[in-house]
Amino acid sequence: MSFSIASPAVEMRHITKRFGPVIANDSVDFTLERQEIHALLGENGAGKTTLMRILYGLYHADDGEIRIKGEPVTIHSPKDAIARGIGMVTQHFALAAPLSVTENVILGYTEGFRLGLPDARLRVAEAAQRFGILVDPEALVKDLSVGQRQRVEILKALYRNADVLILDEPTAVLTPQEVEQLFEGLRRLQAQGLSVVFISHKLHEVMDITDRVTVLRGGRVVGVVPTAHTTQSELARMMVGRPTYGVSKPDAARREDVLLRLENVCAEDNQGLPALKNVSLNVHAGEILGLAGVSGNGQRELAQVLEGVRSCTGGRVIANGHDITNAGPDKVMAAGVGRIPEDRHESVVAEMTVAQNMALEHLDEFVRNGMLDKRRIREHAEALIEAYQIKARPDDIIRTLSGGNMQKVILARVLERNPAVLVVAQPTRGLDVGATEYVRQKLLEQRQRGAAILLISEDLDEILELSDRIAVIYEGEIMGVVSPDVDIEHLGLLMSGVHQT
Ligand SMILES: Nc1ncnc2c1ncn2[C@@H]1O[C@H](COP(=O)(O)OP(=O)(O)OP(=O)(O)O)[C@@H](O)[C@H]1O
Ligand SMILES: [Mg+2]
Repeated sequence: MSFSIASPAVEMRHITKRFGPVIANDSVDFTLERQEIHALLGENGAGKTTLMRILYGLYHADDGEIRIKGEPVTIHSPKDAIARGIGMVTQHFALAAPLSVTENVILGYTEGFRLGLPDARLRVAEAAQRFGILVDPEALVKDLSVGQRQRVEILKALYRNADVLILDEPTAVLTPQEVEQLFEGLRRLQAQGLSVVFISHKLHEVMDITDRVTVLRGGRVVGVVPTAHTTQSELARMMVGRPTYGVSKPDAARREDVLLRLENVCAEDNQGLPALKNVSLNVHAGEILGLAGVSGNGQRELAQVLEGVRSCTGGRVIANGHDITNAGPDKVMAAGVGRIPEDRHESVVAEMTVAQNMALEHLDEFVRNGMLDKRRIREHAEALIEAYQIKARPDDIIRTLSGGNMQKVILARVLERNPAVLVVAQPTRGLDVGATEYVRQKLLEQRQRGAAILLISEDLDEILELSDRIAVIYEGEIMGVVSPDVDIEHLGLLMSGVHQT
């Protein structure tokens, strides 16, 4: 056996994986050196997650081979992968919310079962210490922030002796501060011997944290480069196959009429604590009002109030001339409000087809003689797929679409109705460079058309690029409304709760 200390942590050779007619991985070669942080980069649907799910034993390759530290292996399941020292953290954490951190870390780990809980707690605390992961072993997972939950997932993998860690878009759900903490942690773990596969659509993160980059396009490797020898624009060009330019915002399109008006809106969070405190905002026709803020300052609750799925405890919401205060989602939609919610997986029905999801919110329009008109539903989907350049067929189950294509389905469904008001939350989270550009372009087109758009985003670059005015929210209060050419430092102060002088 050609086993040697110097052999790479992971070698994947000629990996091919088909899903029906789709070739998700087409003879992919991928090498992860020891103690390397290696980015896997590519557009939505390029095959990144598929390749890593194969390594973690969640999918089985149709062809190809895997070596771990030089040894050829067959990985049938995550259990095999874990036994080989491979851990994977996905965006949808697999933690049990009612249980403690300790219980979650030892859950399903046979050795843990033989330990009493006090012993386990000590071991977990010791491991947390050793790996430099700041998390309280006794805390309940349900009380943790997203960033803290991610740390529990990483700790769980390390506790099982992982020396290869796969992180699939770990930063998509984190605040800038949490990203910084994650990166510090990764650098420390790397120094202790960990190898990391890092998937992200944010090129500046790739430049910051990784040693090498493998770029996939259409299921194939189009290049492997040392990070120090490349640039963001070169990476973007490799991914997309053409240069990217970003979007350019046409001149102001704002009109006098206010299409969305919030008057002293108050609402509570899930714990019954005040989440919105007398929020007043006006959004004009032809205007994008950006709502900037650090995650968890009331943005989610505000979006939910405007989507009609959370009630206000005070104040009024007027949209397109209709009072939609506590009106419920159907009336909100009927008033001409289009909604792009934060969690795209929640706004589609995962097991239904693309065509069904596109018709879902207006089924009454697809009924003939009391029956659903399947042909109309299909033709409607075909038209939208064409108009929005969606890489999918009407009969595809929506769960199988890449993030970018799923977002395009939601966008198509909302925009085809030319809503007077658009409430858009985190519209490009997890989307690749091309899809991000596409979505931003569409929002600007809606602005030109005269829609009033409230853009809620934790991506400050996005807010600055698209907004006509920027409102800053902090602990449920609007700290001020500023112009997009604001001094960044000033904006940062407002976001951290320092009032305008
Ligand atoms: N379980 C599945 N069934 C059918 N097709 C799938 C399945 N999983 C992935 N695919 C398809 O395989 C291709 C690659 O998808 P994959 O999820 O690996 O892309 P990705 O690079 O991770 O994209 P993203 O950046 O959006 O996460 C896509 O065309 C996708 O639709
Ligand atoms: Mg993916």
